[in-house]
Amino acid sequence: MKKVIVSAPGKLMLFGEHAVVYNHSCLVTAVGQRMKVTVELTQQETFELNAPDVQVENYVKPMSELGLGDIPKGAKFVEIAIVNFLAQNKITGGLKITTQSEFSSQFGFGSSSASTVCVIKALSELSAVNLDNKSIFDLAFKTVLDIQGKGSGFDVAAAIYGGTLYFVTGGKVIEPLKIGNLPMIVGYSGIKADTVTLINEVGEKAKKYPEMIESVYSQIEKLVEKAKVALLKKDWQTVGELMNFNEGYLSTLGVESKKLADMIYVSREAGAYGAKLSGAGIGDCMFAFASDKVSQAVKDGIIKAGGEVIDVNTNVEGVKVEEKI
Ligand code: PMV
Repeated sequence: MKKVIVSAPGKLMLFGEHAVVYNHSCLVTAVGQRMKVTVELTQQETFELNAPDVQVENYVKPMSELGLGDIPKGAKFVEIAIVNFLAQNKITGGLKITTQSEFSSQFGFGSSSASTVCVIKALSELSAVNLDNKSIFDLAFKTVLDIQGKGSGFDVAAAIYGGTLYFVTGGKVIEPLKIGNLPMIVGYSGIKADTVTLINEVGEKAKKYPEMIESVYSQIEKLVEKAKVALLKKDWQTVGELMNFNEGYLSTLGVESKKLADMIYVSREAGAYGAKLSGAGIGDCMFAFASDKVSQAVKDGIIKAGGEVIDVNTNVEGVKVEEKI
């Protein structure tokens, strides 16, 4: 085998963002839009990357210089993933890689983590080391931390395992939950959120008000535990109430924006079970859970509030090999 095509899903945080960075639990779900990565072994001792979605075209360097020098933003995750894989495993020759995303990198669906996971899975196939999911997680999470310095790894887990997961910081617990489809409507705010900046801002607040912020985190953890039970029972009414609770805490942490709040409030007014932001906050996406009866009204409301409705499938497969050539 010389060439492999691997895909992995995007993700949305359901409950527990921010708190999960500091040793608390969260709930995350994978979404149907996928990242697809083609990795080919070549005779030349070079690394070649094309990632048109993040403006990387014909980026070439010797394999011996991987991880060194100035790395373009759009190439970082792929390149450092290879460096981390090669620190433990061997391949001979060079690598030609192309990434192609079914979703915009602006949505906050986790395109960087999904491409990191795809690259490690592809290298594991090509070198026949057949890493298990936890080993792929550890290498991919290390890659994210090498680049961002911060993060819980929930996005990496969603790309690997798919479905809906109960997750604790750094992969201490990764528990796939048997839930099936979620009655989820997703709205994109049109604002790009910078995750690391927002983690740092919340961190500053925690330095100034340590007891207050720690108690917010532990309240969030309590509602994550309740939401896990309610999700497993498909008790959408309770899930919705807990979403609204969680949004209140996110507002306390300072990561709600007027745009997201408008989209969230119109969803509730249109009859959704509940609505909240997803991820770091300020921008990216919000989501609502809604019955079929009110789903069109919720979508119309999100659009009226200036958002874009993104159709997503839930209950989707994690990382998988699409083709071996
Ligand atoms: O903005 P996103 O979707 O990458 O989510 C960030 C969620 C945080 O909890 C703030 C960070 C993390 O890595 O868990």
